[in-house]
Amino acid sequence: MILSKINKAIKNPDKAIRYILDGGEKGRQKKIFSVISDYKQDIIPLKELQSFLGINLSEYYNELITNQDYKQIEIRLAENWRNLGAFGLTECRLLYIICRIVKPEIIIETGVASGLSSAIFLLALEKNDKGHLYSIDLPPSQELNIEIGQHTTIPKNKRIGWIVPDSLRNRWTLELGDSKKILPQILDKLKKCDLFLHDSNHTYEHMTWEYETVWPFLKNMLLSDDIYRHGAFDDFVAKHNNCKTYKISNRMGIIKLV
Ligand SMILES: C[S@@+](CC[C@H](N)C(=O)[O-])C[C@H]1O[C@@H](n2cnc3c(N)ncnc32)[C@H](O)[C@@H]1O
Repeated sequence: MILSKINKAIKNPDKAIRYILDGGEKGRQKKIFSVISDYKQDIIPLKELQSFLGINLSEYYNELITNQDYKQIEIRLAENWRNLGAFGLTECRLLYIICRIVKPEIIIETGVASGLSSAIFLLALEKNDKGHLYSIDLPPSQELNIEIGQHTTIPKNKRIGWIVPDSLRNRWTLELGDSKKILPQILDKLKKCDLFLHDSNHTYEHMTWEYETVWPFLKNMLLSDDIYRHGAFDDFVAKHNNCKTYKISNRMGIIKLV
């Protein structure tokens, strides 16, 4: 560990000096934390979501950013910032608001990794005082991941969903396996899904498959990350007309049933 750090410093002396001047690892974490908790980037997406939903959102937004559990999540993110593969921070804060407004009984999400979106959903369910989150991710380092060409992105020595505080886990069921297998099983058991979030395998085929699979069971809203990659989201929307849609920063898509 120390040897590899010395090797890196020899290869990149300028970077190493800057790192030391900035206060080493603690300084790096402080910098990351200040980016994570810089909420200015939320102003425009928040206004856009507000006009899409036609509801004033400031109360729920302020509730989140002043929540002590949420602050702890931001600190843990800053401490483990490498290899997170996490959901966008602004989008996450909007997930909280959406969940507070919809007040879902059942949320299903695909793609957990460190568990940022899961933690945010669970914070909102706790405040709603109702609801349950079902999350699906692949088991890390299994043959299955190789077979379907996917890998989980979590820091070394951490488990899927490690960022979710213990105090929020009573409303959470985490299923490890391919969503192609697990999602139909959950839907078959629950018969409905109030809120769905896609954030697993972002191929056109897989995104379309998840949207179509959940659609007959959907009661309120479908959310999808990474919609900018191809036309899966737009093509799906074009096929279904009993809904209104919105794109946040061209990254997260929202489909609301009307
Ligand atoms: C972008 S990360 C999820 C980030 C997470 N939503 C967050 O907020 O931190 C994508 C995750 O999807 C998982 N994944 C990819 N393909 C999958 C599949 N077919 N079934 C279930 N999970 C899958 C990966 O293991 C990875 O952990």
